[in-house]
Amino acid sequence: MEIFESRDALQQRLRSLRQSGRTIGLVPTMGNLHDGHLALVAAAREQADFVLATIFVNPLQFGPAEDLDNYPRTLQDDCELLTDAGCDGLFVPAVTEMYPDGLQGQTLVSVPGLSQKHCGASRPGHFDGVCTVVCKLFNLTEPDSAFFGEKDYQQLQVIRKMTTDLCMPVRIEGVPIIRNAEGLALSSRNGYLDTEQLALAPLLHDQLMAASTTIKSGQADFADVEARARAELDKAGFRTDYFTVCNALTLETAQHDDSDLVILAAAWLGKTRLIDNLRFTR
Ligand code: PAF
Repeated sequence: MEIFESRDALQQRLRSLRQSGRTIGLVPTMGNLHDGHLALVAAAREQADFVLATIFVNPLQFGPAEDLDNYPRTLQDDCELLTDAGCDGLFVPAVTEMYPDGLQGQTLVSVPGLSQKHCGASRPGHFDGVCTVVCKLFNLTEPDSAFFGEKDYQQLQVIRKMTTDLCMPVRIEGVPIIRNAEGLALSSRNGYLDTEQLALAPLLHDQLMAASTTIKSGQADFADVEARARAELDKAGFRTDYFTVCNALTLETAQHDDSDLVILAAAWLGKTRLIDNLRFTR
């Protein structure tokens, strides 16, 4: 696997690939890779001639009280996993390479509305940071397609809208969530959980499943379904941030005639904030 730290070296290599007619599949990550990330690489491998992963813990998408400093950085292991997964290239820039003029005054890319609800309400500015870095990565790499996990469902919808609204010539591919045997969605932040919390964490997925089953069986009072799930989670030891039945495309509160639904959930276990979702039709 070729490793690039500088934008110049990366762009030079990608230019020559493009000139020889190869397609580029981009897999943006923040590292500390797990099977969820490897599923993105596998999906990219199926479509693109050259699979380029990026590892960049993007300071712009972390709030002042969030886990930027403690975010797990495991570059050596990540390189081995990517090589074994058949990834062709890895871009691993320093913060100064991505933000040469610093973070203050950086031009921001913002998707209004969609970015402000759910995770955006709890993490103000988070999606502006995500969109800005993803836009920079798209401009630097000009990929044919880019791969994002459906675990970050709102992020995926925000990126899709940014790409459409700004006429970016890149195909956005969502890749299904990978779960452990107990149903817990894989996430780098699961590494923060202690043994007891790890045992409890799959309840988030259990509650999503229970809520979707209830709705599919005819329950149309979504607020009641949400309240019951929140109560179950909080009783078990979570601190629920949100548990909301939404229209799967707009992420607005679901209306009774909506058929394509997603339940979005975020909940704290101790100091760790977990997110998960379940999309279904009725
Ligand atoms: O999902 C992530 O890991 C990050 O938000 C992303 C898309 C790599 C942007 O930093």
